[in-house]
Amino acid sequence: MNLSRRTVIASTAAAGVAATALGGTAEASSGRRPVKTLFGKLADGTKIYSWALENGGTRLKVLSWGGVVQSLELPDRHGRYANVSLGFDNIEDYVAKTPYFGALIGRYGNRIGKGQFTLDGKKYQVNVNDGVNSLHGGIKGFDKHVWNVEPFVKGSDVGLYLHYTSVDGEMGYPGTLKVKVTYTLTKRGEWRIDYEATTTKATVVNLTSHVYWNLAGESSGTIEDHELTIAAARYTPTDSGLIPTGQLAKVSGTPFDFRKTKAIGRDIRAAHPQQVQAKGYDHNWVLDKGITAKPVHVATLRDPRSGRTLKIATDQPGLQFYSGNFLDGTLTGTGGRTYRQGDALCLETQHFPDSPNQPSFPSTVLRPGQTYRTTTIHTFDA
Ligand code: GLA
Repeated sequence: MNLSRRTVIASTAAAGVAATALGGTAEASSGRRPVKTLFGKLADGTKIYSWALENGGTRLKVLSWGGVVQSLELPDRHGRYANVSLGFDNIEDYVAKTPYFGALIGRYGNRIGKGQFTLDGKKYQVNVNDGVNSLHGGIKGFDKHVWNVEPFVKGSDVGLYLHYTSVDGEMGYPGTLKVKVTYTLTKRGEWRIDYEATTTKATVVNLTSHVYWNLAGESSGTIEDHELTIAAARYTPTDSGLIPTGQLAKVSGTPFDFRKTKAIGRDIRAAHPQQVQAKGYDHNWVLDKGITAKPVHVATLRDPRSGRTLKIATDQPGLQFYSGNFLDGTLTGTGGRTYRQGDALCLETQHFPDSPNQPSFPSTVLRPGQTYRTTTIHTFDA
């Protein structure tokens, strides 16, 4: 059943009771200015704020720490809200033990082999934090910094501008990188992310968002019954350290074929060597459309029980589908329950992992005078 957005907005008031019980987005009614509340303090006393946004039936809470999406509430086909994004209810856990829950990722989303690359004849060694490799920008990536947050209301859109400046040499990367990320909630309840960056020296950039989705609600159990479609005929197989081999392998006849909608659980135990190595899915899909000037629809995720559906459109050439393989029951989430393997999945729009070392992959180099610009749009329905 398709619940019209009008119905969703109408049901928002009734669901306000539940929202208040969850800690309250009730004040941030549709299309209104984002509401700022204190979320917690870092050990050095720095205050971390939570921003509550609501528009078109979608409710979002964003932290000034890492640009983290701390909560994303969506109605099901009956208008009942659930938080569909894994997270914590306190800042201490985000600082100490988060596997990038909801965070902005930079400078380089996913891995760079041995943390090394050569750019314009110069060798760089960036921070290594995943075995011998660099993952998601290193030990203190963009997910572990305080961002400057500014709310806005523009016509029927509401949103936040998030700013962070990464100084020359931070985590080993060249150039001072000025980053601006815009989170917009549209009147249709879409969540749009616009990334922008400029640099003072040639560098590599690959920004993404690391939301862990469970459309049945965080803490509700496995995502194996979620249905997924990815418009990609190829993916990038990896070595045992999850670094692409450079090959663009065909998905046809493998568990990696999501061109026709299928339940994630259907082939997740197919024992394909690439799955055994990754403990499930943790790969970059080579999107058929390639790099596009405007965002194009590339993936659909649907929870058949609640009817909640997420559609992703991007201008990026790749999509990392990670099936929550490293969630091991040691983290307690927002709902007070532990997260276990496969309790959520990530769909990270990106350039391919290890591009700085793969001349055949689309380039991630950014030079002074250029502006890095990419957009990903999440559309929700039930
Ligand atoms: C990405 C990586 C995974 C894992 C998660 C975070 O999705 O591809 O291998 O590191 O981030 O745990």
